[in-house]
Amino acid sequence: MRVGLLTGGGDCPGLNAAIRAIVLCAANDGDEVIGFHHGWRGVAEGEGATLTEADTKGLLQTGGTILRTALYHPEKHEGGTEAVLATFERERLDAFVVIGGDGTLGAALKLMQLGVPLVGVAKTIDNDVLGTHRCIGFDTAVATAAEAIDRVQTTGESHDRLMVVEVMGRTSGWLAVCAGIAAGANALCLPEVPVDFDQLAKAIAQRHDAGSTSSVVVVAEGALRDETNDGSAGSRVADALAERTGYETRLTVLGHIQRGGPPIASDRLLASNCGVAAMQAVHSGAFATLVDAGDTTTELVPLSAVALGPRPVPPALLAVASELTVH
Ligand code: F6P
Repeated sequence: MRVGLLTGGGDCPGLNAAIRAIVLCAANDGDEVIGFHHGWRGVAEGEGATLTEADTKGLLQTGGTILRTALYHPEKHEGGTEAVLATFERERLDAFVVIGGDGTLGAALKLMQLGVPLVGVAKTIDNDVLGTHRCIGFDTAVATAAEAIDRVQTTGESHDRLMVVEVMGRTSGWLAVCAGIAAGANALCLPEVPVDFDQLAKAIAQRHDAGSTSSVVVVAEGALRDETNDGSAGSRVADALAERTGYETRLTVLGHIQRGGPPIASDRLLASNCGVAAMQAVHSGAFATLVDAGDTTTELVPLSAVALGPRPVPPALLAVASELTVH
């Protein structure tokens, strides 16, 4: 079979591990993988080249994506969809394996509705693709953010400061909750839970009255989304808490550091499982599906799940976070 492969949306650790697994599977089974650069844009522009086993050397451990990536949705560009369909025909492809977040997979869904056979693999440090339990890149981002929060904490303790750390997560607080719990953050501001600054400032002041000399507040960039004030969520939280508590306050925005670097072992494993499952799905003709890889099993769910919106942090995890923080 001839399989088109692309990575779209923001990069993250583990993309190369998934590419490697797909290419190795193809080599084992006598298939050919045509890799397209810059996500759907490369497909529309017909930028495909065969990926061989030799291309996978050293890939497992590396961050980013050798296929490059772009935020491009064919349906939003004049002639984009037609160009993708033309590439599919011209390259005599049997299917696409699409590695992306909600945007790239949403574009895949539209192409699927036009009859393009494809299988999706979910990646995003936001971990918010509905239908999946874990997205490629998330575990590494949690580990990176938790380590950064640990480091910020020691400065907070040394200077008696209130340290605010903004992590990524546009629509969901997965990264903030998991990195926050893992690093022992004292408070969290999440898109899922309304923030009451007066109450939060009071709760932090109570911690300090009880003997603490510093606090760390982890803020998801998508928190406070109902508010109209200007500025990032992190800066609004830092300003509001500094004003209300009078504590010396510093803001750290982790930014793209969370998306870069090599994948940790669990992401390599997840990406490898997803890559193999995607190729098995292609072989069995299980198209219009999304790979949902758990710890021991890999299932295929309908790709249409991605149209239902982002996957929120479940109440049980929010409850754990609530027990371990002040609010
Ligand atoms: O969706 C992943 C993500 O890393 C978000 O958490 C973040 O808001 C966004 O991408 C940043 O995108 P860009 O790299 O295009 O600025």
